[in-house]
Amino acid sequence: MTTTEMSEDGEPTRRDFIHIMGIAATAVGAGAVAWPMIHQMNPDASVLALSTKEVDLSAIDVGQAIRVMWQGKPVFIRRRTAEEIAEAEATPLSALPDPDARNENLAGGAEATDAARATASDGEARPEWMVVVGVCTHLGCIPLGTDSGDNRGEYNGWFCPCHGSHYDIAGRIRKGPAPANLDVPPYQFVSDTLIRIG
Ligand code: FES
Repeated sequence: MTTTEMSEDGEPTRRDFIHIMGIAATAVGAGAVAWPMIHQMNPDASVLALSTKEVDLSAIDVGQAIRVMWQGKPVFIRRRTAEEIAEAEATPLSALPDPDARNENLAGGAEATDAARATASDGEARPEWMVVVGVCTHLGCIPLGTDSGDNRGEYNGWFCPCHGSHYDIAGRIRKGPAPANLDVPPYQFVSDTLIRIG
């Protein structure tokens, strides 16, 4: 009998044996490769660093806004003037199409007061700073209003030109097809001039 023949009694031939040994060796090899791959999937320091973003606020003037990238999304940070804060605080909840704060630093269901929108992870509202994810809640365009000279819309905040959504100075939807306020991402104040997003 050669290695290419089947045995007459149904026992594995030498060729079958070699084939089985090959599969077993492959399985062991796959296991040896799988562990480093699984191990690599555990978040290490560099991955965690990518999931957060530290931003120095000291260079942002009153009335100015900047854009940073966090987890592939733009985040707008605006240092609001006293007049802008007063206007936002005076806005009645009844004027808001979306009454939900949509602030990841607060428990769900918080109302979209200006203070709730300006609250960081420590539960403290810092009205001077408005931090929002810069993605329109309609179909995901990036609203204007962060760069100087931008159209900030009818409510002096951000304006999405894709279909005409107007957000106010607290990032709350006020007019247009967008159904919800801009999200407030999780962030904390590491110091008075440094925040960590994420
Ligand atoms: S995507 Fe912003 S209004 Fe449609």
